[in-house]
Amino acid sequence: MCGIVGYVGERDAGPVLLDCLKRLEYRGYDSAGVGVIQEGRLELRRSAGKILELERVMEQRPLHGRAGIAHTRWATHGRPSAANAHPHSDCASSLAVVHNGIIENHRSLRRALESQGHRFGSETDTEVIPHLIESRRGSIEAATQEAVQELEGDYALGIISRREPEKLVAVRSGGPPLSVGFAPDGFFLTSDASAILPYTREVLSLEEGEMAVLSREGVRLVTFGGRAVDRPPTRVPWDAETAQKGGFPHFMLKEIWEQPRAIRDTWGGRVDLEAGEVRLAELGLEGEALARVRRIVLVACGTSWHASLVGKHVLESLCRIPVEVDVASEYRYRSPIVDPWTLTIAISQSGETADTLGAVRESRARQSMVVAICNVVGSTLAREADGVLYTHAGPEIGVASTKAFTTQLVALDLLAIHMARAKGTLSPEAARTLLHELAEIPCLVEDMLGRAEGLRDLGAALRSSRSVLYLGRGIQYPLALEGALKLKEISYIHAEGYPAGEMKHGPIALIDRAVPVVAIAPQGRLYEKTLSNIEEVRARDGRVIALASEDDREIAGKADHVFRLPRTSELLMPILTAVPLQLLAYYAAVLRGCDVDQPRNLAKSVTVE
Ligand code: AGP
Repeated sequence: MCGIVGYVGERDAGPVLLDCLKRLEYRGYDSAGVGVIQEGRLELRRSAGKILELERVMEQRPLHGRAGIAHTRWATHGRPSAANAHPHSDCASSLAVVHNGIIENHRSLRRALESQGHRFGSETDTEVIPHLIESRRGSIEAATQEAVQELEGDYALGIISRREPEKLVAVRSGGPPLSVGFAPDGFFLTSDASAILPYTREVLSLEEGEMAVLSREGVRLVTFGGRAVDRPPTRVPWDAETAQKGGFPHFMLKEIWEQPRAIRDTWGGRVDLEAGEVRLAELGLEGEALARVRRIVLVACGTSWHASLVGKHVLESLCRIPVEVDVASEYRYRSPIVDPWTLTIAISQSGETADTLGAVRESRARQSMVVAICNVVGSTLAREADGVLYTHAGPEIGVASTKAFTTQLVALDLLAIHMARAKGTLSPEAARTLLHELAEIPCLVEDMLGRAEGLRDLGAALRSSRSVLYLGRGIQYPLALEGALKLKEISYIHAEGYPAGEMKHGPIALIDRAVPVVAIAPQGRLYEKTLSNIEEVRARDGRVIALASEDDREIAGKADHVFRLPRTSELLMPILTAVPLQLLAYYAAVLRGCDVDQPRNLAKSVTVE
């Protein structure tokens, strides 16, 4: 998820764009750039790092003009650098493009354009766009209309050209949002109204498959097919800060609601549903490298460690390879037994967690191949690993990890299916079934989010508790750990996740009316066992909040409160159970008046030991 903004009008575009870009930094902050048509020439200023860096560059070499575009990046393809920062231009430096989204067929387009003599200067998927437009004839609008017919994927674009210096072209296809702002002295293009609110509140959102042509005279809206569209702008009711949260009270809640999109983006372009194949070219885990794997070690910290525990179930079940999971801070000091036949998988949202990096270096020192599952392109972990499987969750601002967790689970599912197909331990039919179920997950998550209000009341049931016990069995035990961690880190209520079968060996002593029990009990192989653990709690007067399947007729009589879960296969169920656990913790914390986005004593990325 990146931030794009554009302006054409009376004002000096350079300073205006920089000012707006600062309010988009929450969308991505690893590199940035501005492009302006200055005295008939296309001028770009780009830098790695935060917008402050770009500001320094523009102080030394200011930009002045009446039309321009700008971008703040959250890298997906190509590490953060000035060369990979947007805007990207064509061979003749006559046009420039800023882009938010992913061009899924960028590799094949690039090969075709290079064979026609186009020269590329970056590692990004985006750069195919200006070269594609350059290879077309006619006005910037007509050339863009032709070029977008060839693009596959989700994208929002801003385009300027020195051949039509006072014109901006905006394009929206698929998810990434894009709006036009109507100000008294000009027109804006933006990923998010929050960026331009100091200039105007009159905003018109582009629908998917629409283009807008902005000039000093006005704005024209057309479909990709060229049909004119007439739709009035609407007035934005929020202030800038609220808008950055998209109207949500906290980044955490916004990021919980972003999970359907994040999950779609993480498997998008990597799955061939019909063939039942997962393609992970970027991983380099094919042929000999894959055949060599006799054992897998998963290392991580915190929530990413919980994802690793789920990964063990999925990888062992599909690939029939022994999998070990270790907390990175322990692994790095226990002189682990790994060798060239061991695959080390390191999971980290930030890619900068010191203990996880330490664990990776221990594995590398023993010639173990290292694959990273990471959310930040170009992070230290991504650079040090032999292969990287990026989760496309977008920037996660809330300290409590939510969408990064569920996309890590999706990445582990993709990796397991990929390896199992290559090893022949999973049939094409079984893979097809699993992938079709994975494709349905975003809608099932949307269904649960639609019933989130019910969890507010359950959150209220927890708010005054001294301690809460979370129970789960099998692949749901790690989710009990994750549910407990979410509650601990944002509401400061003590909580413990426990394998339900273990409860009678100790924690059952905690059970009374004051210690609520959250039991994760979806239908499946271990349902009956979990049900009997719930009965053990009830027999000692415990209060039970159960997460249970939508068609479970029995649970209502066994629990005080029930939140219904949609059905999917057992291996994918953790992606679904994560969502109500996140919301339960969120509402309990909000009702206790806690600072949900920046809880005490915590940091988003723990870069020290
Ligand atoms: C989770 O909500 C916490 N923010 C924390 O446990 C986190 O998961 C841990 O610090 C690991 O971070 P990473 O995924 O960036 O490596």
